[in-house]
Amino acid sequence: MEKSVEESYRKAGSIACQALKKGVNMIKPGVSVKKILDETESYITSQGAGIAFPAQIAVNEVAAHYCPGEDDLILKEGDVVKLDVGVHVDGYIADTARTVNLGDKDDLVKASRDALREALKKTTPGTTLSEIGRTIQETITSYNFSPIKNLSGHALSRYEVHAKPTIPNFDTADDTQLKEGQVIAVEPFATTGAGIVYESSNPTIFTLLKEKPVRSPITRQVIHEIKKYKGLPFTSRWLHKSLGEGKTRFALRELKTLGMIQEHPPLLDKAKGFVSQAEHSVIIRDKPRIYTKGDED
Ligand code: CO
Repeated sequence: MEKSVEESYRKAGSIACQALKKGVNMIKPGVSVKKILDETESYITSQGAGIAFPAQIAVNEVAAHYCPGEDDLILKEGDVVKLDVGVHVDGYIADTARTVNLGDKDDLVKASRDALREALKKTTPGTTLSEIGRTIQETITSYNFSPIKNLSGHALSRYEVHAKPTIPNFDTADDTQLKEGQVIAVEPFATTGAGIVYESSNPTIFTLLKEKPVRSPITRQVIHEIKKYKGLPFTSRWLHKSLGEGKTRFALRELKTLGMIQEHPPLLDKAKGFVSQAEHSVIIRDKPRIYTKGDED
């Protein structure tokens, strides 16, 4: 890996780590999710980095892909709260997440955290994807919880958050080996529920797929805005700030009809179980470089 590329990863990782820490410290009953996400994201841009995907908070049975839309969400006692943060420097991405337990789900939080720690020990050249998956699965089931099988970690490419290969959270019998210099995000999810998520409704996270000619000036204004995100995911809340809720709603509906955007709806556990998540990004080498890790983690 080129020195300048590694330096970009290092910077992105250290900013992501700090941003996550700031967000996590705000997670308390009675606090607005919009406020947490706004502050987490402003920290990222204040450090001169880019937002690789909208900061997300998923609560209880929601495993991923939740951002508040027109309505806010207020955290409450008993919630299991995941914060997932993505930062990029020059397109080189750091992806990291943590769970805060506002109730009695300490073991559930530990299960995904331990699974991540054990899996990261094996992020060296030659390890097979099934070994990573098996490690995660065995750790989580040793706590009597289930890994979520249809959510997975992923490789990180320049300006591409979900690159190939996917990094499984269970033993897939895939004997593909990790390679020196590969960059991946490992993200185990543990649940008290089914271990399978489904796509719910009311997506607030999107990516621009392709551009087509559009007549409506409102939609054109929105396209102009979302092109700034360079093909990375964005959320409707960002558009509300410059264009208002009405215009945003109108334009997103039109873009969907035209097949110009992909929606990423919230992902919920099928049995409504509680879900925890832990995630770090790592450069594969004999001594793995976990570049989203702070000093005290
Ligand atoms: Co990720």
